[in-house]
Amino acid sequence: LNSARESLYIVSQFAANFFEDQLWNSADGKAIGLSYFKERGFREDIIKKFNLGYSPDVWDALTLEAEKNGHAVEYLEKTGLSIRNDKGKLYDRFRGRVMFPIHNFTGRVIGFGGRTLKTDKNVPKYVNSPESDIYHKSNVLYGLFHAKKAIRDQDNCYLVEGYADVLAVHQAYVENVVASSGTSLTIEQIKLIARFTQNVTILYDGDAAGIKASLRGLDMILEEGLNVKVVSFPDGDDPDSYMHKVGAGAFKTYIEEQRQDFILYKANILLAEAGKDPIKKAGIIRDIVESIAKIPDNIKASVFIKECSHLLEIEERVLLTELNAIKVAKS
Ligand code: CTP
Ligand code: MN
Ligand code: MN
Ligand code: MN
Ligand code: MN
Repeated sequence: LNSARESLYIVSQFAANFFEDQLWNSADGKAIGLSYFKERGFREDIIKKFNLGYSPDVWDALTLEAEKNGHAVEYLEKTGLSIRNDKGKLYDRFRGRVMFPIHNFTGRVIGFGGRTLKTDKNVPKYVNSPESDIYHKSNVLYGLFHAKKAIRDQDNCYLVEGYADVLAVHQAYVENVVASSGTSLTIEQIKLIARFTQNVTILYDGDAAGIKASLRGLDMILEEGLNVKVVSFPDGDDPDSYMHKVGAGAFKTYIEEQRQDFILYKANILLAEAGKDPIKKAGIIRDIVESIAKIPDNIKASVFIKECSHLLEIEERVLLTELNAIKVAKS
């Protein structure tokens, strides 16, 4: 047992309890934090399930409370919960924000995301815990602890961008959902999903950044040998805003029925960009075959070649020639 690491877990859990207590029991927490979540349409059971909290809008509320309870300054600093200023004085990293504790997949608190309540564009929307001995961003999926059983049962994992998206999908009674939050999707995160299922459904934001991230993400997921589908959302919506717009029931139906095979998804996006230009269309075909070439399983790849052939009205043997050329070039 590593007692230094254990101390980081303990102080992180202390902080989570502190923020949660502030949200439900302090005047500001209730008036500012809890009403914020409620105005966004989150139910109390969801706010409790994810142990959401509120960090008081003062310099050192958590730091003082933790010291008072015997937590060593060393661990407050190592988790990034407290920061030392030029004069050597400690202050809280998270102030006046609604708090999302981040759990590892065994359920221990390892870090936090804190969202501002201000609309000022100069204030960062989210502040996150820094890397520490217990928190390695690239190895963590937000929500995995609350999702892992459902991921196994459903044999599928929904992948979203953000904290609020995970909450909203749960609120629609869909529990097999995780977020890569605070980082773009990593190979380690895909390997973590692969412990529970071979099937991933991407639910990224319906903006240019979300579409770009989904195309990158699906190639990475294919390369790890997993199956990938995509649900797109109207421009300007993400799973969170869309769920609150249409309601829980309609949202669940939407993600089940709008799920597209990755080829169809990619083809639709690229074809919409290219219009009728034949040279551009050739480029698109090559681009899609590049994605198929990432699939390690040859039989699966050939099934997708067939699908691609129907979809783009290109002879299968032409696509196969292209596929083999890409594979030879890669080997
Ligand atoms: N993110 C971050 N730092 C930022 C912006 C975003 O760490 N300054 C991470 C957060 O995990 C966030 C995710 O990227 O949840 C997706 O970003 P975005 O779509 O901008 O935020 P939302 O999750 O939609 O946030 P909200 O609904 O609260 O506005
Ligand atoms: Mn480590
Ligand atoms: Mn976004
Ligand atoms: Mn978003
Ligand atoms: Mn959002």
